[in-house]
Amino acid sequence: MDYDVVIIGSGPGGYIAAVRCGQLGLKTAIIEKYETLGGTCLNVGCIPSKALLDSSEHYFNATHTFAAHGIELKDLQVNLPQMINRKGEVVKQTTDGIKFLMKKNKVTTYQGMGSFVNKNTILITDKNGGTQQITSKNIVIATGSKPASIPSIPLDKKRIITSTEALNLKEVPKHLIVIGAGVIGAELGSVYGRLGAKVSFVEFAGSMIPTMDGTMGKELQRAMKKLDTDFYFNHKVTSVENKGDEVVVIADNNKGGTLTLSGDYCLVAIGRKPYTEGLNLEKAGVQKDERGRIVVDEHLQTNVPGIYAIGDVIRGAMLAHKAEEEGVFVAETIVGQKPHINYLLIPNVVYTWPEVAGVGYTEEELKAKGIAYKTGAFPFKASGRARASMDTDGTVKVLADKQTDEILGVHMIGPRTADMIAEAVVAMEFRASAEDIGRMSHAHPTYTEALKEACLAATDNRALNI
Ligand code: FAD
Ligand code: NAI
Repeated sequence: MDYDVVIIGSGPGGYIAAVRCGQLGLKTAIIEKYETLGGTCLNVGCIPSKALLDSSEHYFNATHTFAAHGIELKDLQVNLPQMINRKGEVVKQTTDGIKFLMKKNKVTTYQGMGSFVNKNTILITDKNGGTQQITSKNIVIATGSKPASIPSIPLDKKRIITSTEALNLKEVPKHLIVIGAGVIGAELGSVYGRLGAKVSFVEFAGSMIPTMDGTMGKELQRAMKKLDTDFYFNHKVTSVENKGDEVVVIADNNKGGTLTLSGDYCLVAIGRKPYTEGLNLEKAGVQKDERGRIVVDEHLQTNVPGIYAIGDVIRGAMLAHKAEEEGVFVAETIVGQKPHINYLLIPNVVYTWPEVAGVGYTEEELKAKGIAYKTGAFPFKASGRARASMDTDGTVKVLADKQTDEILGVHMIGPRTADMIAEAVVAMEFRASAEDIGRMSHAHPTYTEALKEACLAATDNRALNI
């Protein structure tokens, strides 16, 4: 065999698996069909979206909050091409970093489309049609996902767009219609809303970010009212049409009525689907489920021994850090170690402002499971740090076991909660009680005090600053 491990796909699942395989002394290769490494996350996902979220937030603050801070600016303008260029530079630095990591860990990189010839042989076809075959004892499928679409919403990628095009627009939309008020809708809707677009959300469910704790969606919607936003919940889109410079969206309102919206761009953000096209899985006998996901067991091994799958292409949350944990898990499994992933404690973050973050069970899940719980909450308006920075929107909510006080879930919306959620993950990994966190010193003034206070409130209704 040419290699111990060959990884197909270089997103956060694949490249982290490669790094860990390299660290463990395995002869490793990675195959990526695009010219740059890093997959969806680094090229058209996590990193570019955060770059635009940061730029647009600076603009929003400059136009909306600087004056209150005593900073007066005149004639502010958005230079969208420059904003997009800066995003491109951030992406380039990050993807170049992956090239360096592959070299450092002695991972051989192949550029081209990988497909199975049999369970140990992969054919690599480059963009000019050139081919070569490599063999490996183990193969890791890390081919990720693509935006989902439905026949009634034809994507033309010009006016009716996915997140990929939304990260490269040449103008700020006047009226952006967003189908799906989930994570991508909330984040990219925020980007263009802050830059001055009117943003209308048409959502199937009854709230924003409906899979997160219910309080979060309500609070996020309230905060997003500061932008020029409209929300149409419980609406099912029946048609989207590009009429030149105008996009018309029609939806059923579930009450027998019809909603018609006209905008200049329509962002379709209705979820993502696993990507296995061109892999020729059948040549190796690898099975998929009814949703197109590669089926894996508790060791992330497919039905074919020696072939593993990780990240967006298998079951579970479609998140970069979940894919990364699985990359490490597979590498360690291959060398005979016994790694472990606690899927309940993979945090979820939405990078709007205020940021939303959650880990563990939601209140809705605890109710459905019939687990007796108590709640403690602390609003950021009671935080001195939040008042100092004028970031008083949001709250921290802690759910703890009614009898034992063990923390079962933490859900926060507010300033820097994307970073703050790490404390909750650590606490829950060590099975802390709410009182444990309530009795630990948190630097003052920091946003993190809100978690301590919410824990005190959950323990015994004894928050100190409210
Ligand atoms: P991917 O990153 O999709 O990588 C798969 C790679 O495999 C791709 O490079 C693809 O070209 C390659 N490939 C596919 N088939 C083949 C083949 N046959 N041969 C060779 N190469 C192949 N997640 C977060 O946790 N935080 C965020 O902030 C976040 N923001 C996001 C923002 C947006 C706009 C989007 C779209 C997604 C975001 N995500 C975020 C989700 C995150 O990007 C994915 O969960 C993550 O990239 C999945 O990693 P992966 O390794 O499974 O697959
Ligand atoms: P999503 O699952 O978060 O949201 C999709 C939304 O579209 C849901 O609220 C759903 O109810 C709605 N929807 C589905 N079909 C619809 C229809 N026909 N009409 C109206 N609404 C409809 O998916 P999204 O936002 O596309 O993101 C895809 C994935 O990318 C997410 O699952 C997430 O894991 C990942 N991601 C993560 C980010 C992060 O971690 N910050 C940021 C962006 C994406």
